[in-house]
Amino acid sequence: MCGIVGYIGSKNSVPILIDGLKKLEYRGYDSAGLAILSDGKIDIVREVGNLSHLENALNKNELCGNLGIGHTRWATHGRPTKENAHPHADCKNNISVVHNGIIENFLNLKEQLMERGHVFHSETDTEVIVHLIEEYYEGDLLAAVQNAAKKLEGSFAVAAICRDHPDLIVVARKDSPLIIGIGNGEYFVASDIPAVLKHTKNIFILEDYEMAKITPEGICIVTFDGEEVKKDIFKVEWDGEAAEKGGFEDFMLKEIYEQPKAIKETMRDKFSKEDEIIFEKLQLSEEDIRNINKVVIIACGTSYHAGLVGKEAIEHWAKIPVEVDISSEFRYSDPILNENTLVVAITQSGETADTLAGVKEAKNKGAKVIGITNVLGSTITREADGIIYTHAGPEIGVAATKTLVCQMVALYIFALYLAKIRKYLNTEETSAIAKDILMLPDKVEEILSGNGKIKESAENYANCTDFLFLGRGIGLPVALEGALKLKEISYIHAEGYAAGEMKHGPIALIDDGVPVVVVATKSKVYEKILGNIQEVKARGADVVAVASCGDDEIEKVADYVFYLPETPEIISAVLAVVPLQLFAYHMAKERGCNVDQPRNLAKSVTVE
Ligand code: G6P
Repeated sequence: MCGIVGYIGSKNSVPILIDGLKKLEYRGYDSAGLAILSDGKIDIVREVGNLSHLENALNKNELCGNLGIGHTRWATHGRPTKENAHPHADCKNNISVVHNGIIENFLNLKEQLMERGHVFHSETDTEVIVHLIEEYYEGDLLAAVQNAAKKLEGSFAVAAICRDHPDLIVVARKDSPLIIGIGNGEYFVASDIPAVLKHTKNIFILEDYEMAKITPEGICIVTFDGEEVKKDIFKVEWDGEAAEKGGFEDFMLKEIYEQPKAIKETMRDKFSKEDEIIFEKLQLSEEDIRNINKVVIIACGTSYHAGLVGKEAIEHWAKIPVEVDISSEFRYSDPILNENTLVVAITQSGETADTLAGVKEAKNKGAKVIGITNVLGSTITREADGIIYTHAGPEIGVAATKTLVCQMVALYIFALYLAKIRKYLNTEETSAIAKDILMLPDKVEEILSGNGKIKESAENYANCTDFLFLGRGIGLPVALEGALKLKEISYIHAEGYAAGEMKHGPIALIDDGVPVVVVATKSKVYEKILGNIQEVKARGADVVAVASCGDDEIEKVADYVFYLPETPEIISAVLAVVPLQLFAYHMAKERGCNVDQPRNLAKSVTVE
């Protein structure tokens, strides 16, 4: 999400900054801008859309200068507009700032700053930073940024420049990445290493609560409390492309590993500190919620599987009947909807044609529509009545991974919210479930540490041509997703099936050449699943099981077991899907497939 760059030295900063931003494009963005300090003034140029728009604007302005900062913005607070694009300036156009991250207390700070006469021009959280710096500025930019940083809650990597200091960039970091490239009499600031690799392989990596004063003569790194920090230079040994992937072989693997952070980001704006659940853009009153007589979830692909998980959670906690439909079917069906039906359209991209058509159909029939998406400003955000954002960050790999787990988490929290308002759960019960949901990121982290064993199993099965994935209850959507991931990226034929249906057909396919992956976590149907495993084993097939930790029984029947940390049944889907993502990934790699761009597939399916 968002990328920041900065340059100070003897060259024209404009092409260097643009080139740096291009190297950060992989992070995703919807607008971009530069601030250049030269001849005692700061010029800011910002444009919506891709970097070529910004380049055209810069060419027109003939901007040039030895010091500048730049930004690619992936909208989180406020739409992707020119006004919301960075850099942002203070009231006097004296200070300019770029920011990556989310300022959680920005509303509070904004109110206070406005009371003190500051004038805001954007909807962003970032703008409070520059006004806060202005508030503290008394001629010392480092001190002003330091004081401002201490007031900010949330995550930030910030670069600030000031008209009074034509040879100074101040940067600060907390929970968002920030590096400084060390050149010869010049320095480069960036969110990530690829942005500076063309110029230097010598880097300072800032840690949380650290900030730096950068001039052409040198760098001084201090903590937010002013203590000097002595830092070793990090020598980069990867090439540019590897660096964009943060040292991971592919974006998909990187995104699988980003899941704990993505889930945290998704929960951040929904669980308030006061134990409340907040959906800022839902546009549903409590009365609307009490009146809902049916929820219809529509989605495609992986998002459909999130929908199946959402059904379990909403029916279990909020006791509202839920139907889940594939968007391409729903749009041409004759659904029975009315003003008391809530349609939930799930789409990570916000652009899937079939889902958008389903939204139109639902609205025509008078239903209320909520969209769940990862992309701010995408079409669904305009078409649906209300929106729930997953904040997974941009997903580059075509096969959805981190957006899926974030959709599930958003649905869990939404289900809790419905249950609370409809009084099926009281505050203590909701808090207890919320606590379990809040523990998911650490548990996903634990599963990721078992990657080695999953890789080993994939090596064993890489030559198989058919797979069966079985699950029951909450394990069924997980099994369906496991099969979809495998076929999408490794091109192996894989079928996901309700384990209880096996006898009605798929069992005929089973022999020693068809491995069966079974989601066998502890649940009310656990014994039934064990029975299904026995049936599979009796026909000679290998079994790969996803099971709950401490389950020794399963070891006796399965050939490989991927264990999950203990967690309540309904929310276990978030955990159970992770080993299956890794399994599909390793299978595909073993077979030499391009996991980031599988053949014939697209990230955003904007046609029918
Ligand atoms: C494509 C992608 C999938 C995604 C599906 C639905 O097929 O490759 O990863 O699950 O579209 O996309 P949506 O943006 O609607 O979630």
